[in-house]
Amino acid sequence: MVLGKMDKTNKLNLIIFGITGNLAQIKLIPVLYDMAEKGLLPENMTIVGIARKPMTQSQFQDYFYEVLTSENIHHKHEIKKDIFEKLCQKLHYLAGSADDPKLYEQLKKYSGNKIYYLATYPELYKSIFDHLQKNGLNIQNHDWVRLMVEKPIGYDLKSAHEINTLLLQYFSEDQIYRLDHYLGKETLQNILSFRFANDIFEPLINASFIDHIQITALEDFGVGKRGGYYDLVGALKDVGQNHQLQMLAFSIMDVPDELASRAVSKERLKVLKSLVPLPEKTVFGQYEGYQKEENVNLSSQTDTFYAFKTFINNDRFQDVPIYVRAGKKAKQTATEISIVFKNPLNKLFSVDCEDEPNVLIYRIQPNEGIVFKILTKKPGHQIKLEPEYMQYCYKVDPHTHYIPDPYERLLVDTIRGDQTFFNTAEEVEAQWAFIDPLANARSKPSIYQPGSWGPKEADELIEADGRMWLEPSMAFCRI
Ligand code: BG6
Repeated sequence: MVLGKMDKTNKLNLIIFGITGNLAQIKLIPVLYDMAEKGLLPENMTIVGIARKPMTQSQFQDYFYEVLTSENIHHKHEIKKDIFEKLCQKLHYLAGSADDPKLYEQLKKYSGNKIYYLATYPELYKSIFDHLQKNGLNIQNHDWVRLMVEKPIGYDLKSAHEINTLLLQYFSEDQIYRLDHYLGKETLQNILSFRFANDIFEPLINASFIDHIQITALEDFGVGKRGGYYDLVGALKDVGQNHQLQMLAFSIMDVPDELASRAVSKERLKVLKSLVPLPEKTVFGQYEGYQKEENVNLSSQTDTFYAFKTFINNDRFQDVPIYVRAGKKAKQTATEISIVFKNPLNKLFSVDCEDEPNVLIYRIQPNEGIVFKILTKKPGHQIKLEPEYMQYCYKVDPHTHYIPDPYERLLVDTIRGDQTFFNTAEEVEAQWAFIDPLANARSKPSIYQPGSWGPKEADELIEADGRMWLEPSMAFCRI
């Protein structure tokens, strides 16, 4: 179906380095099961899992089953025996470390198209690539070879550039799929359809009508078991450098020439390159109790929250401030983009909520949807206004409108060879060029209470401009 002609004819090998790691367990293995269930795995596909631990083929299948049924991973639905058995027919396991030449000898057995998924530490990339190259395993003849790498690419502009340079020594740009799973979110992709398939809204998305933009990504949980990774990275680099900047790019980029990879990433890149970093308008926070989390340094100064203000240096959004915030252990989980419109100049309705602006909300999660906050007349004898929502909501009935997991979506795109929702090297580097000055200005984070909206300094940042953070509303798209 979705995969086109290639599913019956060509052999496909999905080769996952790091199959016993956290990413594989939490994302890839559940998604592979879902794809098997939906018939999205091509007939001639082999899934080769690689890790150091010795396992027989049958132990590997048991491992898959354990992951799928583990309480922590919480695969949300029943694992059907017949589907699982079908998936098992595709599974192969190779034990070996990234620098073990024997591993690559064995990989040579797998002829056909290849996707290498690096669900492993970036420190191992070079060794993996060297061995692939020595064995001619990165060469495309009549079969193609693609590489999937996860964010974060590097930890600053310099290191990202080094990784990009390294990747290009072994693969060409059209073979490299840099994955930021936010680009695979149905709700994020829908922003493009909403904006460019309905011409009625687009003329309003500019400085003449917009007062400001807010981008929020709050989570009501902490770092959990990921303290070791998180403590080295912090919130700004974990989600600010990637997911949130991409959310911004989708919501304000110009219309691309066509709905194709180069044209879309060109427009995203233009936004990323015009962002103005304002280190003095950046706030960092850490939730109380973070230092006691598993694998976190006892005197850690890592940010678990940040807020910053920025501008886009272009005519269309001249002087429109953009406020961005994200954090863990917040009062509520909510990821959204709010385009806040200017209040009408007329003062016709000098009543209660005259200063409630119209807001266009792209709600990425939860209560997924696209909604317009408007003022309407409250039914009754008096002229009283009340805010209401005009809404498009996702239906959650999986038989009519299922929302594919972003990893599923992006794996399908990689199999099809569609890079539209992957980042180019330039995009990743433009993101770091913006984030580096903010990260370099990082001082001691302000402590905030778990279950709050972050430190008071974040409120002061926006209040200094006579504005307020919008409390994410749960009043719409409740299905
Ligand atoms: C990941 C971050 O990239 O994105 C996590 O490493 C964060 O810290 C997650 O929780 C958020 O993704 P989602 O899809 O749950 O919003």
